[in-house]
Amino acid sequence: MPNAFDQIIDRRPVPGEKWGRYAGRDVLPLWVADMDFAAPPEVLDALRARIDHGVFGYAHPWPSLVQAVVEGIARDHGWRIEPDWLVWLPGVVTGLNLACRAIAPSGSKVFTATPVYPPFLATPANNDCGLVTVPLERHGERWEWNRAATEAALDDATRLFLLCNPHNPTGRVFDEDELRWIVDLAARHDLVLCSDEIHCGLALDPGRPHRPVATLSPQAARRTITLMAPSKTWNIPALYCAFAIIPDDTLRRRFTRAMRGLVPTPNVLGLVATEAAYRDGDAWRQALLAYLRGNRERVLDAVARMPGLSATRPEATYLAWIDARGLDEADPASFFEAAGVGLSDGAPFGLPGFLRLNFGCPRATLDEALRRMHAALARKQNGAP
Ligand SMILES: Cc1ncc(COP(=O)(O)O)c(C=O)c1O
Repeated sequence: MPNAFDQIIDRRPVPGEKWGRYAGRDVLPLWVADMDFAAPPEVLDALRARIDHGVFGYAHPWPSLVQAVVEGIARDHGWRIEPDWLVWLPGVVTGLNLACRAIAPSGSKVFTATPVYPPFLATPANNDCGLVTVPLERHGERWEWNRAATEAALDDATRLFLLCNPHNPTGRVFDEDELRWIVDLAARHDLVLCSDEIHCGLALDPGRPHRPVATLSPQAARRTITLMAPSKTWNIPALYCAFAIIPDDTLRRRFTRAMRGLVPTPNVLGLVATEAAYRDGDAWRQALLAYLRGNRERVLDAVARMPGLSATRPEATYLAWIDARGLDEADPASFFEAAGVGLSDGAPFGLPGFLRLNFGCPRATLDEALRRMHAALARKQNGAP
């Protein structure tokens, strides 16, 4: 039976960041974090039904939507949230900035570890705060916390710890021991934890499930703002629907106060898609994960055979984080772009010399991109210009 994820859908005729960046050029875009797959049929059917209704008056999240999200999070992550812990948002980046605005007064400091999704690095300055970073360290296959350096980087002015888990770009799913250490650290320094868990539906290995940090203990829940969205897992990012989960009443009030007059509820199509995704999208998600596991192996096998490159195994996401420092190219992203493959440059993530490869695409596209990368490296080895 043909696999739906093998189907190539030409995205060039519709406006969009991923393919639009290389319009008119033969470059396969494996950069920005969206996938080249159609959204689940269940989501598309729900959207069609809503569009066919024809009237798009103001709408706020409704009970069956809230129920679908509450039950989906319990089913997928074993976390029983209360409906009134949910705060609806048009995006997770909005949530990161709101957390900063609500928790970290002007002049205070915000901590995060690098490399990391670039808006983490921009958020503190957007809100007049200082940024404190400590690099994650590669130990064999895993990127890990430097606990002593992290501890030493925090001081009395630090108010907020921005955590990305599962982690973009390394693909780590932080384990219980790491999360316990983070919660303990936050307690000792009286920090609020803002945990961006947008990739939580994309833990690739059944033996290494995502654990929401707020589930570690009642104390962890009390100091945590968790950000989630259906957008990565079900590939609907431009429908702009996300939510924060904030169990503590006081913390939630601080967060919603920062939203007043500025942040609208998500648009109705995003809300409709979210309900369908959480309620009916799990079979599609499981099939996606199986497909992505296959793509991950192709990427790891191919990169292992590419001189000058080395990748760690992503435990979640459709993103591979590749060390290209052995390539001896000042700008490795431009090197591969010239060879017809558009990758994300590591510098905006805080780690120049690295590349991020998005393998959320049909295998034929991925194989062609990996073939082009091989060919470029072979030409380089042979001394071709
Ligand atoms: C870790 C992380 N957070 C947030 C986002 C974007 O979220 P949103 O589009 O909801 O603002 C991304 C997108 O790549 C991401 O990887």
